[in-house]
Amino acid sequence: MDLGISGKTAVVTGAGRGIGLAITQALAAEGVRVVGASRTITPELEKAAAATVAVDLSTRDGAAAVVEQAIAAVGGIDFLVNNVGGCDPDKLSLGGFLDSGDEQWQAVFELNLFSAVWTTRAALPSILERKGAIVNISSVSARVPAGSPVGYAEAKAALTQLSKRLSEELAPRGVRVNTVSPGVVASSLWTDPNGIGGKLAAASGLSHEDLLAKLPALCGTSSGRLTEPEEVADLVAFLLSERAANIHGADHVIDGGALKTA
Ligand SMILES: NC(=O)c1ccc[n+]([C@@H]2O[C@H](COP(=O)([O-])OP(=O)(O)OC[C@H]3O[C@@H](n4cnc5c(N)ncnc54)[C@H](OP(=O)(O)O)[C@@H]3O)[C@@H](O)[C@H]2O)c1
Repeated sequence: MDLGISGKTAVVTGAGRGIGLAITQALAAEGVRVVGASRTITPELEKAAAATVAVDLSTRDGAAAVVEQAIAAVGGIDFLVNNVGGCDPDKLSLGGFLDSGDEQWQAVFELNLFSAVWTTRAALPSILERKGAIVNISSVSARVPAGSPVGYAEAKAALTQLSKRLSEELAPRGVRVNTVSPGVVASSLWTDPNGIGGKLAAASGLSHEDLLAKLPALCGTSSGRLTEPEEVADLVAFLLSERAANIHGADHVIDGGALKTA
């Protein structure tokens, strides 16, 4: 299927590894010139992206700098993928509400919500000019908060709502905004022993390997497996493309059937 996006430009945040890297690679394979922004610029990102920006996206200045440098590098922005998110495993409490202080709430909201607000605000004039599209990477946790670190589901719920608000405002002006909500994805967030996966395994008394093996069942997937980053990336590429020209303001779940509501 020709997605009809060759020659377009994109900014992908959190593009160094995991889902963001897969999105960068999928878009590049379709002929999109991608500016990949991440804290760490990996060799894989260097290879796939037209330009990279090393940046802390949890700050307003960082988010604005990405857009400025992207426009300088590729001339303007057709597509924005607000992918950066998650939580810093070293600063994260896995306890309940009373174990999680303001610092955690603030850090999680800065990375999962405000980064998207700041990046979108900076990129929007260019996206409006080009009648482009935005995809925000939320999570099924936005709908089923139990189990996720305190603050994460709440920030993702706000991000999903932000997509809808933006879509309502921007669709009449020719810009499409959609959300992609993955369930557990086999990205470095889970597979890295030093990431959240490793930390959760230690907290539950399982080896990291055991936790990964049990995750599909623990999450209630119907397919019996986790989603691969490349599968999320294909969905994002489709949503940005001409093939999705009348898809506006929708939340697209990709979770192997883990979510049990219709
Ligand atoms: N994996 C899942 O199961 C899952 C499920 C639902 C939703 N999601 C969402 O999908 C998105 C991507 O997750 P992922 O699993 O691909 O994560 P990941 O494997 O941990 O990769 C995160 C990427 O973002 C970068 N990053 C993190 N904090 C940053 C910051 N402050 N400034 C700039 N870059 C930063 C990381 O750079 P470094 O290498 O420097 O850390 C890395 O390149 C997130 O929004 C997450 O909430 C993930």
